[in-house]
Amino acid sequence: MDSFWKTLKKPIFALAPMADVTDPAYRSLIAEYGKPDVTWTEFVSADGLYHTREKKGLSDAENPLMRDLLYSEAERPIVAQLFSSNPEMMAYASELCARLGFDGIDINMGCPDKSIEKQGCGAGMIKTPEVAKAIIRAAREGAARGKEGGLPVSVKTRIGYNQETMDEWLPQILSEKPDALTLHLRTRKEMSKVPAHWDLMPRAVALRDEHSPETVLLGNGDIIDLADARAKIAASGCDGVMLGRAIFGNPWLFTDRTMEDVSPKERIEALAQLAERFSALTPAKHFHILKKHFKAFIQGWPGAAELRGKLMVTNSLEELREILSTYRV
Ligand SMILES: Cc1cc2nc3c(=O)[nH]c(=O)nc-3n(C[C@H](O)[C@H](O)[C@H](O)COP(=O)(O)O)c2cc1C
Repeated sequence: MDSFWKTLKKPIFALAPMADVTDPAYRSLIAEYGKPDVTWTEFVSADGLYHTREKKGLSDAENPLMRDLLYSEAERPIVAQLFSSNPEMMAYASELCARLGFDGIDINMGCPDKSIEKQGCGAGMIKTPEVAKAIIRAAREGAARGKEGGLPVSVKTRIGYNQETMDEWLPQILSEKPDALTLHLRTRKEMSKVPAHWDLMPRAVALRDEHSPETVLLGNGDIIDLADARAKIAASGCDGVMLGRAIFGNPWLFTDRTMEDVSPKERIEALAQLAERFSALTPAKHFHILKKHFKAFIQGWPGAAELRGKLMVTNSLEELREILSTYRV
């Protein structure tokens, strides 16, 4: 199998999956303004894909889950993130993603959301390593049905559930030789409430070296920019990092530009572009989802708060256009 992971130059800077943030619209902007080395989709339910496509018979055009799997060529390599605790469903969804042309499959084993955990998925997988391993194998098998040679399969997880248990949990995952492993350096219990434990990363690197030296290891948690990323990679010895919340309001994150170099005019233009793409690519999604971006983009100059206040009460793309087109900074 040709794995793109083998061809990426290290250190690797990856864009994190973030539901309702790194959606097709924002990712297309990021690919243009400052492309990461590898991009993830938002997480998508494998069971949901099966049930909506096979049972409800929704056409792909009307299926909201299929819209979450939209991507553009500019984003490659692009990895589809899936979750399921049912191997058949995982195989089904991986086959589909291989047919859709994705470069890799990632399995979410870190999400703390109760509705996901209730299905035995996300961080809940840390408690059921045998299921986790079966899911990795199923993803591989499914991808091989959809594309000759299959696709690389990676895992994104945390350092433990209630407490840090890397010495037990990581060897379980690594025994399946995933092509890549992203480690969010917090437990499930810690959610995102404490600083990420970067001091633990060298131990994760040692576990990877011992159990699956070919697995690409990315660290994740609290990285603010590329300079911070380089420092953390140098200090911990991992192959790269994944950046999440730092992308809010900053599609230039994967360049060496700092936000001080980006003018208010550019920020406003980027937000306008994002809103246009959001409406064009995902018209059925609620306009209000965009509001978290309003807060993130419109800040840092005198008058930003006033503009933000006006944008926060808009209800449609037309209203947003109207305000932005008459605004002078
Ligand atoms: C709004 C939001 C949505 C997220 N959605 C996902 C997701 O779909 N899949 C996933 O694996 N992690 C998800 N995460 C977790 C991030 O990918 C990342 O692991 C976490 O934010 C820590 O990295 P950071 O400190 O760089 O943001 C989400 C995080 C946020 C804030």
